[in-house]
Amino acid sequence: MKYRHSFHAGNFADVHKHVALLALLRIMQRKDKGFLYLDTHAGAGRYDLAGPDAHHGTEARHGITALMNAAAMPQAQEINDYRGAVAALRAEIGDAHAYPGSPWLAAHTLRAQDRGICWEILPSECRALERALGGFRRMRVECADGYQQLSAVLPSRERRCLLLIDPPYENPSAELDQAVQNILSSLQRLANTVIMMWYPIKDERTVTPWLARVERALSAPALSLELWIYPRDSRVGLNGSGLLLVNPPYQFDQRSALWQPELHAMLDKGQQGGCALQWLVRASDVDHAGA
Ligand SMILES: C[S@@+](CC[C@H](N)C(=O)[O-])C[C@H]1O[C@@H](n2cnc3c(N)ncnc32)[C@H](O)[C@@H]1O
Repeated sequence: MKYRHSFHAGNFADVHKHVALLALLRIMQRKDKGFLYLDTHAGAGRYDLAGPDAHHGTEARHGITALMNAAAMPQAQEINDYRGAVAALRAEIGDAHAYPGSPWLAAHTLRAQDRGICWEILPSECRALERALGGFRRMRVECADGYQQLSAVLPSRERRCLLLIDPPYENPSAELDQAVQNILSSLQRLANTVIMMWYPIKDERTVTPWLARVERALSAPALSLELWIYPRDSRVGLNGSGLLLVNPPYQFDQRSALWQPELHAMLDKGQQGGCALQWLVRASDVDHAGA
């Protein structure tokens, strides 16, 4: 496997995914009852945007750097909350170029009654992850295949679970289908699992039929959030960022309809892109199918 997330850390797609993730974590915490956070593809947990691995922050310029340098305070609380979390990491380790990955954001947010497990398959990334999360007792790091481990922890004793699936997509078609298989088997084990899966928008010919297959396969409420900063079929590489949400919590759609356009406006300086929120499976469709 050649993929290293440090090359892309803090880019617009990371920011899109991480704003949504933190918003989900906050919603899960509206209830006092604890929940389990699972991160199947954890990465290194923390990145140095000034370093050579991050190409000295080239991709982050259209992502976290644009967001942190914005002159005006964002209106949406989700964006401000996320900016606060990034600032907290930077202050904590005294490094203005540090960037938090998904496991750090979650570990930073978990309460005493919550716990988390994150899996990373590459030994070097996993060692970095262990260092990044050293101070967090509620988040367990395992150097293992996240998909293989899912079945060992679900259903969890908490009966409430937030699952992030964020593969590297070195082989996009196969990995998209593999992720959906894992979503379906996780739902069989714990039907109310809240799942967020990231997918790349590179080529409409891959994304559109895949979303249609997802729609047919799922019997749980699901929506997609998409944010793109280049025309969706351009050949730049990554045109946009997609998030598939299964069992999205109450009002997550309404809040996303506020923060996503604002985030898009902050990141898409060239004004070549757009954003969209689409229900793929509505709760009423599921109830109807089960009736
Ligand atoms: C896109 S990155 C993860 C980024 C991270 N979720 C974040 O938002 O900060 C994908 C990571 O998954 C790891 N990986 C690939 N296949 C895996 C598997 N089957 N189980 C666990 N980790 C895997 C890769 O080594 C890479 O570090």
